[in-house]
Amino acid sequence: MLWRSDIHYHDMLIIGFESSCDETGVAIAGTDRGLIAHALHSQIAMHREYGGVVPELASRDHIRRIVPLTREVMAQAGVKPGDLGAVAYTAGPGLAGALLVGASFAKSFAWSLGLPAIPIHHLEGHLLSPQLADEAPDFPFVALLVSGGHTQLMRVAGVGRYELLGETLDDAAGEAFDKSAKLLGLSYPGGPELSRLAQSGNPAAYDLPRPMLHSGNLDFSFSGLKTAVLTRMRALDASGRAADPAARADLAAATEAAIVDVLATKALQALRQTGLRTLVVAGGVGANQRLRSRLQTALAAMGGRVYFPPLSLCTDNGAMIAWAAVQRVRAGLVDLQDFKRPEFGVRPRWDLQDVCIA
Ligand code: KG4
Ligand code: ZN
Repeated sequence: MLWRSDIHYHDMLIIGFESSCDETGVAIAGTDRGLIAHALHSQIAMHREYGGVVPELASRDHIRRIVPLTREVMAQAGVKPGDLGAVAYTAGPGLAGALLVGASFAKSFAWSLGLPAIPIHHLEGHLLSPQLADEAPDFPFVALLVSGGHTQLMRVAGVGRYELLGETLDDAAGEAFDKSAKLLGLSYPGGPELSRLAQSGNPAAYDLPRPMLHSGNLDFSFSGLKTAVLTRMRALDASGRAADPAARADLAAATEAAIVDVLATKALQALRQTGLRTLVVAGGVGANQRLRSRLQTALAAMGGRVYFPPLSLCTDNGAMIAWAAVQRVRAGLVDLQDFKRPEFGVRPRWDLQDVCIA
């Protein structure tokens, strides 16, 4: 029998920091115990009055939040600095200044404790986050990564084994939600606002384009949809109906339906192409209920399964960073000694292929 104390003895505790955009996240996970505690501060309310993320304000707010959040997470986990085995941080992609706050804090914290500081790719964090749900997917699976900055379909064979199947040629899915929401006069971030408005609308009221739906490949394009929403909004304006709640709800519903239709169709196409029946959806747009139920129905019909991160971990958070570090350590992909060296950097633009096993 394995006692709790035995487990603890072998368990390496990792504290992870996320600061790539507008959320400050800190979490502790163990190589045996999994996620232990996490704390998050969202800057949404602060950026809302500007209609989008203001990078300099984001950096300054990360500076204010990171120490209290670290204290909060350590108290929640009942962990002292001396109990930690490693530190992890989002090294990219993201806003340079925002990334630098998390990276320099993580590196200094690690350096003061003689610990390694493991740089984590933000998208790998999103990709592996569905494993934090009660029921975790097994490898291999197809991942649909849909965030404010990315729209990608990937074949995931294991930790560090990601093959890109297709991606957006212009706007990301989250961006399509956010930009359409702005045209509808909704506040930032538009995705959740637009889908709330869509609930009372009729998606069939407008026939919006589904760009690249039949392109024959797994790439996406959303900029044409944005233009179509703009045209419909102008027409509503011209007919004096722009303020009509029912008309706006219909347009929101039609926009959501178009985005979800393209995402779901391509995800199913990726499953057919790879012969896999497990789909994982990650990133902020994974919180969208219409996308969730559409995929659940489709996967059930084909005898497969779709996995989502817990709703609270769909958007950016520290848990996925601590978790990705745990997974990389477990998989033997981390040279802990090497990451004890003092130098570090951030990668505002960083290809996920760079963290793949050759
Ligand atoms: O992953 P995330 O938090 O940040 C990035 O790394 O980009 O994703 C944020 C994106 C935003 O575009 C936001 O509008 C979208 O996710 N989003 C949603 C929903 N919740 C968040 N889009 C549609 N429906 C939602 N319920
Ligand atoms: Zn993200």
